[in-house]
Amino acid sequence: MTAEGAGALRSNVAHWRALQDADYFENHQCYGGLKAFGRDATDTLARFLSLRPDMQVAVVGCGYGRDTLQIAPQVAHVYGIDVSARILTKAHRFLEEHGVRNFTPVLAELWRDGIPDGIDLVFSIVVMQHLTRDLVRDYFAGFARKLAPGGSMVIQFLESRGYGQQDAELATYEPSVNWTCWDIMDLAEAVGLQAEIRTDRVAETALWHWGHFRRPA
Ligand SMILES: C[S@@+](CC[C@H](N)C(=O)[O-])C[C@H]1O[C@@H](n2cnc3c(N)ncnc32)[C@H](O)[C@@H]1O
Repeated sequence: MTAEGAGALRSNVAHWRALQDADYFENHQCYGGLKAFGRDATDTLARFLSLRPDMQVAVVGCGYGRDTLQIAPQVAHVYGIDVSARILTKAHRFLEEHGVRNFTPVLAELWRDGIPDGIDLVFSIVVMQHLTRDLVRDYFAGFARKLAPGGSMVIQFLESRGYGQQDAELATYEPSVNWTCWDIMDLAEAVGLQAEIRTDRVAETALWHWGHFRRPA
């Protein structure tokens, strides 16, 4: 990574830490607090694979644990990665209050050491669009090596018309980065994963591309 890329990466993480320090989820118009809502995680995963009780799972950008709450009861363990101790503490508390005991919080800057090898599934929703491209590539390169044979990643990307054309480090509030299907295919190929993409139109101007990336068994 270039020095410029490393600087952009640090500023992206610092930006998200500041958003979390200002209680991002509690003040966000869609989240409106730390509460269980939606079945995006398990409904989406069911389109690609079946969860198993022996699975080791990593959730990138776990937030306060909304996705983990859906996944954790059906698998052996979930590692949740996010930017600060503050948001990870909220996730731990939220999940414990809802009876989840198989969750380990992992700081984003320490994720390579904090996540063991042999991961069966990596899940992420509404996160890649908020990261610099370098940061996304770093997660893919690292997880391609940590995946168990036959393991996979189910990751959502945003492609929008109008809003979201700028690079993450230039945005002032929620950084937003567009990924086309070809960008996603190239990303998978670069790290040696097989890719399948399914696209949903989630708003007038927004597509969600769900990538299912597999390490051959
Ligand atoms: C829009 S929220 C989505 C949270 C969760 N996936 C959900 O849908 O409820 C984006 C999350 O990504 C986290 N995030 C930002 N930069 C990150 C990074 N470099 N590594 C991991 N998570 C990051 C943010 O702190 C935030 O919790």
